[in-house]
Amino acid sequence: MAEVRNKNKPISPLFIDTSDPEVIETFLKMGVISGVTTNPTIMFKEKFATNEVEVKKHSLRLAKLIDPFPISLEVTSNDPKEMISQAKELAGWARNVVVKVPVHGPAGELYYLEVINKLAVAGVKINCTAIMSPIQGLMAALAGATYVSLFGGRVANIGHDASFEFRKLRDLLDLHAPEAKIIAASSREAYNITEWLLAGCDIITVVPDLMKVFLIHPYTKETVQMFLDDGAKLKGK
Ligand code: E4P
Repeated sequence: MAEVRNKNKPISPLFIDTSDPEVIETFLKMGVISGVTTNPTIMFKEKFATNEVEVKKHSLRLAKLIDPFPISLEVTSNDPKEMISQAKELAGWARNVVVKVPVHGPAGELYYLEVINKLAVAGVKINCTAIMSPIQGLMAALAGATYVSLFGGRVANIGHDASFEFRKLRDLLDLHAPEAKIIAASSREAYNITEWLLAGCDIITVVPDLMKVFLIHPYTKETVQMFLDDGAKLKGK
């Protein structure tokens, strides 16, 4: 279970986008993350679990590790009844599980928002995922999603200004669904972190490699080495 660093301070706006327990633990111990996001592709690529039984076991491990902070686990079905029963099952795995449901299906199926609404009414916390536009984010929030994940990196990949899209979503939610939280997902560059948080996102979920890129600065290395060298000289070494 994670130690909550300071209950009087707002929780960190950084989540980590991985299923790697070691990486989660590293940043958790620094006190700089307050949640984990996964998806079926992350689970598949990172290979900590290779079948459904292992996915459950691994997810339980991660949920325990990040508790009391949230972990997002995604439904893997396209059938509305199955999505609802799977979501309820995932939510029953641990108290901090948030269920990811895409905003609509691969063929534009609209019932995904109905699924989200039913689950939200039943008390399941939803992270609506695969959102690519502010209006999709607003619709998801109106349907009852606790978190709306706009995929900034993918939005930028197809030529849009992700920060501008985040600012529009921020304004829409402030006006019409202020309880929903914006997760900036699909981070690609270290600069996205500052950029998207300042665009009004509540949270950014960061891939592990990026976390290291923006944290470690070459000039900090050089400066700290200078301090250590001069400190050693002062000690007469
Ligand atoms: C997180 O919640 C998202 O699933 C993830 O950031 C998506 O990232 P991708 O666009 O690199 O697949």
